[in-house]
Amino acid sequence: MSAPRWDRLLLNATLATFAGDAPYGLIGHGAIALHHGRIAWIGGMDALPDAPAALADVVESLDGALVTPGLIDCHTHLVFGGDRAQEFDLRLNGASYEEIARAGGGIVSSVSATRAASEEQLFAQSLPRARALLADGVTTLEIKSGYGLDLDSERRMLRVARRLGRELGISVRTSFLGLHALPPEYRDRRADYVTLVCDKMLPALAAEGLVDAVDAFCENIGFSRDETRRVFERARELGLPVKLHAEQLSDQDGTALVAEYGGLSADHLEYLGESGVRAMARAGTVAVLLPGAFYALRETKLPPVALLREHGVPMAVATDCNPGTSPLLSLRLAAGMACTLFRLTPEEALLGVTVNAARALGLTDRGTLAIGQRADLVVWDARGPADLCYWIGGSLARKIYVAGEAVSR
Ligand code: NIG
Ligand code: FE
Repeated sequence: MSAPRWDRLLLNATLATFAGDAPYGLIGHGAIALHHGRIAWIGGMDALPDAPAALADVVESLDGALVTPGLIDCHTHLVFGGDRAQEFDLRLNGASYEEIARAGGGIVSSVSATRAASEEQLFAQSLPRARALLADGVTTLEIKSGYGLDLDSERRMLRVARRLGRELGISVRTSFLGLHALPPEYRDRRADYVTLVCDKMLPALAAEGLVDAVDAFCENIGFSRDETRRVFERARELGLPVKLHAEQLSDQDGTALVAEYGGLSADHLEYLGESGVRAMARAGTVAVLLPGAFYALRETKLPPVALLREHGVPMAVATDCNPGTSPLLSLRLAAGMACTLFRLTPEEALLGVTVNAARALGLTDRGTLAIGQRADLVVWDARGPADLCYWIGGSLARKIYVAGEAVSR
């Protein structure tokens, strides 16, 4: 008998491939083979080339369980010191997010807590958050800096982000968010801070291999278009892709700017207008929707989902996990909230945490179940893909594979 050709073969699965023309790319009674960390074969049970037992070292029947690509959380700030539960309280007693920020709270208070934490402490505080996301099916995770706002503290955040990936055996992509807030010591020297970010911090951290993309917070309480442009110019010189927190609290036309730089994504977008949508469509920039922040801020202005659809802009969904506006630890719940709050269909929401989330990170080797893709996948205690958006809470992930290996949680 010839040697098995695959490492592992999963049989009798309901496969949501997010590839092909069927809704969810569904293969009802399917099988998937993993080999050397990649998907080696996928199709209907009836199309398997041989007797299953002879095909792989390990053969397992899933009894109809749902399998999806590993979920991709393409926008988080999950490395930070402390928390901001106190501000949640203040907001519910009438203060707005802007008022708290202008009074020296908000992002800046997380900056103090993050600066005060050692690398070890930051890691210890962030690990349970990353673990919670993983437990609910996330195998690729983006993590931003932006609570350090000086070279050493930003470096510490990004090093912790990389270490979380190694510790948990998942993929972590980092974004440098030096233009997140003005640090207090630069209160009267805005331009000097932007110069520091562009000329010192970004080049140094990029040289250390800590930066996969560059982000900024373009907002009246954040940074202007001109300031954002300066960091995008430097990113371009360094060959790094850009993305942007855009039109979250007001329309700054940041979306057109990030599109001009061929940006991977524009994120938040509640105040986005049609010209920005057109710019994104032309540039192929992904719209990342963040219902956790919408919910926690009790925002009422909805992102223009119908316009994004009409113009064919790909939509992703992410947790935005952060201490201020979105202390959310389930990407599956974010997808469900995108349905109930933003009226995405479950299929759109799930495309948003797989295929389109991969695209928002510039990754093409994951987000679908197809031959040659990374074998990042989740076996769920669910009967169909919509279950993943339908159940609020609970632990549905039965088994999680990263590059073909089962990961422990
Ligand atoms: O994505 N908008 C800016 N950044 C975060 C909030 C950060 C914070 O409040 O700590 C966001 O919502
Ligand atoms: Fe964010």
